Amino acid sequence: MKEYKFFLIDIEDHVALVTINNPKALNALSSPVVLEMIDVMQEISAMKDVRCVILTGAGEKSFVAGADIKEMFEMDPAQGKAYGILGSKAFQIIENMPQPVIAAVNGFALGGGCELAMACDIRIAADTASFAQPECGLGIIPGFAGTQRMSRLCGKGFAKMMIYTCNRIKADEALAVGLVQKVVPLEELIPAAKKMASKIASNSPNAVQLAKSAINQGYEMDFVSGNLFESNLFGLCFANSDQVEGMGAFVNKGKAVFTGEPLPKK
Ligand code: COA
Repeated sequence: MKEYKFFLIDIEDHVALVTINNPKALNALSSPVVLEMIDVMQEISAMKDVRCVILTGAGEKSFVAGADIKEMFEMDPAQGKAYGILGSKAFQIIENMPQPVIAAVNGFALGGGCELAMACDIRIAADTASFAQPECGLGIIPGFAGTQRMSRLCGKGFAKMMIYTCNRIKADEALAVGLVQKVVPLEELIPAAKKMASKIASNSPNAVQLAKSAINQGYEMDFVSGNLFESNLFGLCFANSDQVEGMGAFVNKGKAVFTGEPLPKK
């Protein structure tokens, strides 16, 4: 991997642990951090050996404390729009990269931090984590797709309450509304994320990636179109060695070892 200024990357057993490393600013997403995030995620997307990604923040205090307020303070409307488009692009890359991404939320997930967590496939939070969209208290609205993803993930009423009030909620409240999928003590956060990631990595990488695509893209379609899209991807599974391996292991009472390699064309 390339060397990055704001990211630490550790790849082991098909799992990439990506740490946003700007703890002095509580891992705030300045433009240079967002630009690097795009490079990091595009580099990992192309790594066939990586089957699952964990995204976390350096330090014990903050996942990401938001977009960079100091940088935004100076912006005019055109610069504001460009910054929103840049952050949104980075998060769409994460949402659409082939491998699932688990956000391991180790503290503040505020503004862009909450939006980043929502762009990931699954969120595990430390019991010390907190979530908010504080933008309306700063005279702006969420700009990295928070108005869109929060309403889709947790419903319009919850999104409006969070965004209009700017209230901060704790991990257990986030769990209750489905904003996160699991809450664990802080010291167990990375081990729990690694355990989940290695379970994902033990399954067929081809199937997991097609499932990600079916869920994400199908979610934006009407039911019948989404169902047809699923059928097409279901059919594609049978062009991959993982289907032969997985079903062969069941039939022969063995253990499947997946590679994700396509089958030779007949
Ligand atoms: N943008 C830029 N810098 C940020 C930042 C952000 N979103 N969040 C934190 N920082 C910086 C602080 O300015 C401070 O830098 P300094 O030491 O140079 O002054 C450093 O990170 C530490 O933050 P500090 O506020 O001193 O820590 P704290 O523990 O007292 O408070 C927070 C933590 C998260 C409650 C507080 O930093 C905060 O409210 N941050 C902004 C959150 C926000 O509104 N995010 C949404 C942005 S759209």
